[in-house]
Amino acid sequence: MAFGKVSVKNLTKSFGGADGKKTVIFENVTFDLPEGAVLRLTGASGCGKSTFMNVMSGLIKPDSGSVFYGNTDISSLSESEKDRFRAENIGYIFQTFNLLSPFSVIENVFAPLAFAGKLTKDYKEKALESLKKVEMGDFAAKMPYHLSVGQKQRVAIARVLFADPKIILADEPTASLDRASSELVKTTLLELNKSGKTLVLTSHDPIFDDVKPDIEFNLETGKIS
Ligand SMILES: Nc1ncnc2c1ncn2[C@@H]1O[C@H](COP(=O)(O)OP(=O)(O)O)[C@@H](O)[C@H]1O
Ligand SMILES: [Mg+2]
Repeated sequence: MAFGKVSVKNLTKSFGGADGKKTVIFENVTFDLPEGAVLRLTGASGCGKSTFMNVMSGLIKPDSGSVFYGNTDISSLSESEKDRFRAENIGYIFQTFNLLSPFSVIENVFAPLAFAGKLTKDYKEKALESLKKVEMGDFAAKMPYHLSVGQKQRVAIARVLFADPKIILADEPTASLDRASSELVKTTLLELNKSGKTLVLTSHDPIFDDVKPDIEFNLETGKIS
């Protein structure tokens, strides 16, 4: 399903402390992210970048406001519809990879679409192709615990290549990686963006300094530029 732009409307999120006090993470955030654009989330550690991404993808609920993917308000979907929507449309790359430990490398690549019931006949060849693009073809049958952190992140990237989502959320994608893996992650993300995918990026890695975002949202100051 094509959705075009992403519209963030009056989005507010706070966390309640143990003492009942609320900490506002972001408040009344509104912007449109055109299809194929780059959004960069900035601000010091702990200011709410990951929270914003989690709210954007519907993984956690905002206090108020909405995120529209085209005409679809993600919060209006049921949990299972949301899971399916995410599997098909949103590629998530975390600092911590989120590989499924009981599954092999190649199974990790096709698992999200398998769970969503969206595998095509040639999924194994396609999954292997995706792994080859990130130089992980030889590791298809290995288990995640066999891999270095850089290799794990390459598998996470292969998973995104395989799923071919409309938007990619990359949360500190090179934070714990070696130089070669960082370069590969960066190059692949930029290629995906060039091919028309919307990219949401948080990173302190200077490797991304030359990437010019269309929108920058500083979670520390609340400023959008
Ligand atoms: N589930 C949660 N419950 C309560 N506080 C949380 C929760 N998740 C994150 N926080 C707090 O929200 C703030 C923002 O966290 P986070 O979004 O992870 O920041 P960043 O990604 O910019 O480092 C932090 O102070 C963090 O402790
Ligand atoms: Mg974070």
